[in-house]
Amino acid sequence: MSDTEAESSLRIYNFIHADLKDAFAEDVRRGLASAPKQLPPKYFYDELGSQLFEAICLLPEYYLTRAETEIFSRYADEMVGEAMGEASTKEVTLLEMGSGSAQKTRLVLDALIKRRNALHYIPVDISLAALKKSARLLLAAYPPPTLLRVTAYASDYNTALAHLHKNHNERGRTLALFLGSNIGNFNPIEAESFLQSLRAILRERDCLLVGADLKKERKALEAAYDDSIGLTSAFNLNLLNRINRELDADFNVRLFRHVALYNEAEGCVEIYLESERAQRVALRGLNTEVDFAAGERTHTENSYKYDTSELATLAARTGFEVKRTWFDDKQQFSSSLFVAV
Ligand code: TRP
Repeated sequence: MSDTEAESSLRIYNFIHADLKDAFAEDVRRGLASAPKQLPPKYFYDELGSQLFEAICLLPEYYLTRAETEIFSRYADEMVGEAMGEASTKEVTLLEMGSGSAQKTRLVLDALIKRRNALHYIPVDISLAALKKSARLLLAAYPPPTLLRVTAYASDYNTALAHLHKNHNERGRTLALFLGSNIGNFNPIEAESFLQSLRAILRERDCLLVGADLKKERKALEAAYDDSIGLTSAFNLNLLNRINRELDADFNVRLFRHVALYNEAEGCVEIYLESERAQRVALRGLNTEVDFAAGERTHTENSYKYDTSELATLAARTGFEVKRTWFDDKQQFSSSLFVAV
């Protein structure tokens, strides 16, 4: 296979340009001016952030990725069978929101390839570097005669969904993937509106596989987000490095501390950056200074945990029905097949 052949089956839309840089500046300005302070999680994923997250997925404490991989290894054929039913063998579209390294995706692709001949994979990810790498690896792993086309979106979710809404027309069945507890990073209201936008680009009987981490005892949850070798701490603190680099700020990263707490009433792990002392930080790119009190926490991420009845409610409110849910052996994690109704 020549390079051009491989390249001709790959198209990358880059929606991350000047716009995102302006949005970053504006989001940081607004987030640090609000009380309590907050920073949006989508900015974790610069090049180092994406790689740190991949490393997090290998941590002993971070059971989520292993549990989801176990589910896919065991049940991908069943999942794809339920999703596709007797649908014709026209080209199948596999749309993945927040594809990252797309390693679990391969288990789904393998199952699809066993049944069909033509596949259109559409990964959407905020990290251009992660997207390029994963798209190239996938195309190399599925060379011709596998009919795999990849259309990749380096984009935030909303921008990609808006574009897909206009352009996602001529096609057979679509299977959407939203894996790895990505859904958990939305609060319940945001999760509903996101799934509604996703539902709007699907047709009746199209499917969505949703990964959701399950509610469990505090100790296991807090360890998953505060590991013993400090990778999650590095991932969280790296956001300050990014602000320093891109917004010409002078955060002393050593004077902030990673905090992860399970809020049982809300069913979510809350992630913060805590200022170890009173300090003033200059953000020259924003022409501003920000004061942090000793012990003050800046909220950077939520990770909501689900149970099966909450997933059913979420599906019902967003134009889906839960057809089936699969679990890992230890019942730590769930993969649910939502069918568009
Ligand atoms: N989607 C992942 C999750 O909620 C993201 C994540 C894992 C994360 N570890 C983190 C986000 C630590 C912020 C901090 O599990």
